[in-house]
Parts: sequence; structure tokens; C-alpha cells
Amino acid sequence: MAEKKQNQYQPPESNGYHWNDQESLHTMEDEEAKRKKKMKWTIGIIAFVIFQVVQALFFVLVIMKFKSPKFRVGDFAVQTLTVGTQASPSFDMSFIAPIRVKNTNWGPFKYDASTVDFTYGGVLVGQVIIPKSKANFKSTKKINANVTLSSATLPSDINSNLGNDLSSGVINLSIQGELKGKITVMFMFKKKKTSLMNCTMVINTSTKAVQSMLCK
Ligand SMILES: *[C@@H]1O[C@H](CO)[C@@H](O)[C@H](O)[C@H]1NC(C)=O
Ligand SMILES: *[C@@H]1O[C@H](CO)[C@@H](O)[C@H](O)[C@H]1NC(C)=O
Ligand SMILES: *[C@@H]1O[C@H](CO)[C@@H](O)[C@H](O)[C@H]1NC(C)=O
Ligand SMILES: *[C@@H]1O[C@H](CO)[C@@H](O)[C@H](O)[C@H]1NC(C)=O
Repeated sequence: MAEKKQNQYQPPESNGYHWNDQESLHTMEDEEAKRKKKMKWTIGIIAFVIFQVVQALFFVLVIMKFKSPKFRVGDFAVQTLTVGTQASPSFDMSFIAPIRVKNTNWGPFKYDASTVDFTYGGVLVGQVIIPKSKANFKSTKKINANVTLSSATLPSDINSNLGNDLSSGVINLSIQGELKGKITVMFMFKKKKTSLMNCTMVINTSTKAVQSMLCK
């Protein structure tokens, strides 16, 4: 092992210390150690620079990518439902709407108070108030809202549509809402974002189930 080292470290033309083998060997070892140290430093610096670049890229491409949180209503069952007839159409219903604000950002989304509107044929039949709050870092804020809807406010022309709906065993409703808020990443980078909810749903009047829910 030692012999091998010596061979490696003593290229014949590269040293001026032939008069003392011992000392010459020493100097060679010193130089080798210096070279190794330098190499270590160089590798260390390169690794550090790469680390910094990767970190900066991650920061710009992942963390600083502000995405609008998703504002949705999940599946639910209608708890109470009374419907009129085709000749005298009406509905009254109540349910707990699982409203969700899904925040996929690397920081909280703070939003202002808002509303979710339930409409039939473009006319408001019920409304839920969303209190000012926040959806935390990469999480979903759950708001279970008690909703009561009534057709009492529908004008007569829309009521005749409702008669047709009811005779086919469905009620078509739209749900719309808008959440305005601000995302804060790393406690200091802020961006305003608005999340829209625009869904249409069909309620089956015989099963009281939400038969379809489509959201944009
Ligand atoms: C919603 O209704 C349930 C009963 O159905 C009741 O226990 C709950 O307190 C109500 N929540 C609100 C916010 O009114
Ligand atoms: C309502 O649901 C029942 C049971 O699933 C089904 O048989 C019926 O066709 C549905 N009504 C409509 C209008 O889709
Ligand atoms: C209600 O929805 C059903 C199924 O999507 C559709 O066939 C029907 O035309 C709709 N009725 C109205 C009044 O929009
Ligand atoms: C919601 O979607 C409907 C189409 O399904 C569209 O006509 C309407 O403008 C949308 N509303 C909003 C507030 O984006």
C-alpha cells in the first residue's frame, strides 16, 4: 500500500529535492493534501451553487406559483323536500351543503365574506353566507352550510318551467359564488386571487338525491 502511494506521488521530473528522500516525500504529501483540499473546496462550492440554483428554481416554479383555490359544493342528500304539482308547481327543501375551499398553494388563502347563491331559472331561491375566513397552507376549508330553498319568489313564467321540470321528476338548480382573497407565501409574498363557483345540479324529486352536479 505504502509503496503504491510512493510511486503515485513521485513523478520523477517534478521535484527538486532528490538530496533528501524523506523530506521530498513529505513535501509531496503536503502538496497532495493541498490539492485534495482544493478539490474538496471546489466540489463543495459547485455543490453549493447547484443547490442554490435548484432551490431558486423550486421557489420560482413551485412555491411562487399562485393558483386560484377551488370553490365547490360536494355531494349531499336533500333532507326535506316538498314539491307541488305540475299545475301548481312549487318546492321547498333543506339540506346541508358541504362547501369546500381547496387551497393547493404553499401558503394560506385569506378570503373576504361572501355568498353562495342558489338559483332556479336565473332567480334566487336561496342563499348561504360565507363568513370571512381562511383556507390554510395546502388544505381544504370545509363549510357545512344549512340551506333552505323555496320557490316562493319565482315569477309565473319561470314557474311554468318548474311545472315541466317537476313532471319529469327533477329540479334543476344553479349554484354560483365568488370568493375574493389573498394568498400569502413565505409570510411575505402576497397575491390577490378570486375563486369562482359555477355549478349546475339536478335533484331527483323521487329519491331526493343530487343526480348530477357539474361545475365549471
Ligand atoms: C344546521 O342544522 C343542524 C340540524 O339540521 C343544526 O344542528 C346546526 O346547528 C345547524 N347549523 C347552523 C350553522 O345553523
Ligand atoms: C330518479 O331516481 C330514480 C331511482 O334512481 C330513477 O329510477 C329515476 O329515473 C330518476 N328520475 C329521473 C328524472 O332521472
Ligand atoms: C334540467 O336538467 C335535465 C338534465 O340535465 C335536462 O334534460 C332538462 O332539460 C333541464 N330542464 C331545464 C328546465 O333546464
Ligand atoms: C356560469 O356558467 C354558465 C354556463 O353554464 C354561464 O352562462 C355563466 O355566465 C357563468 N357564470 C359566471 C359567473 O361565470
